[in-house]
Amino acid sequence: MAELQEVPITEEKPLLPGQTPEAAKTHSVETPYGSVTFTVYGTPKPKRPAILTYHDVGLNYKSCFQPLFQFGDMQEIIQNFVRVHVDAPGMEEGAPVFPVGYQYPSLDQLADMIPCILQYLNFSSIIGVGVGAGAYILSRYALTHPDTVEGLVLVNIDPNAKGWMDWAAHKLTGLTSSIPEMILGHLFSQEELSGNSELIQKYRNIVMHAPNLDNIELYWNSYNNRRDLNLERGGDITFRCPVMLVVGDQAPHEDAVVECNSKLDPTQTSFLKMADSGGQPQLTQPGKLTEAFKYFLQGMGYMASSCMTRLSRSRTASLTSAASIDGNRSRSRTLSQGSESGTLPSGPPGHTMEVSC
Ligand code: BEZ
Repeated sequence: MAELQEVPITEEKPLLPGQTPEAAKTHSVETPYGSVTFTVYGTPKPKRPAILTYHDVGLNYKSCFQPLFQFGDMQEIIQNFVRVHVDAPGMEEGAPVFPVGYQYPSLDQLADMIPCILQYLNFSSIIGVGVGAGAYILSRYALTHPDTVEGLVLVNIDPNAKGWMDWAAHKLTGLTSSIPEMILGHLFSQEELSGNSELIQKYRNIVMHAPNLDNIELYWNSYNNRRDLNLERGGDITFRCPVMLVVGDQAPHEDAVVECNSKLDPTQTSFLKMADSGGQPQLTQPGKLTEAFKYFLQGMGYMASSCMTRLSRSRTASLTSAASIDGNRSRSRTLSQGSESGTLPSGPPGHTMEVSC
């Protein structure tokens, strides 16, 4: 008998008929560290921050964020915000390969380019959404420019510099694996890679056949040479805004995100560990991430419950009442999303809440 194979299910809920993607405008600005390209969707909304995204290594803003931002339920969120999607230098579509010897910016310097973008657009504040290296860059930016960051959604954040053990492992892997293989191992779990789903085939193809692979290697090197963010619970180096940490369970960066959560202020941090999402929850579970993002924005006072779908409203009401049982919003909330349907969130705050979608 043929062996049964586990088939990862990717949520698909594209734009409805009549829903057209908004026009995008791509700009480049010069910064002290070279030029940076970004694409703006939507129009600025008075008294609202822009949503600013930063993608991971091996991807660009489209391959990293399109499935999330074009997800059907996301439209009710993004119609209320202008979006700025940054491409790391040399990652924009059609980017020429940098000349040999080009000094690619460090992740800290990439973060230092963000003020130039905001100044050019005349935007004063953002909600940052970053994945992997992009999450690190937005974290660094938030630490150095706290007054301009209203919230952070950090997927697969690793706030630590590589230690000597990590370097040894990295060097060993480098002896047997190519750069694209190492990057794929950073983006996806080994289980996903060996499962070789359609999504993996698509992203393997994107990374393996990237015309700007030399540029990607430079971004990869900057990521691997990142400094420690030195976050410390109760210390001076901390975020001054609400943060939502997101990671897939059994994803390559699970331990790093768990450790990051332990270093952050629990009154400001929500931790979402997603089941069945692999290494890139924004690609595989855009529906769950959209719903969590709605709760996050609602907590910041941006999504009135009247803006939300009936299903989301009932779930949010349940979450809100659970969170106020003891009138204590001072502990971190862990949202552990399962894969079964129909269960409403339950349980007191400061404990694991099961939010099954
Ligand atoms: C957006 O609407 O923000 C968006 C659309 C396409 C790709 C990425 C983002």
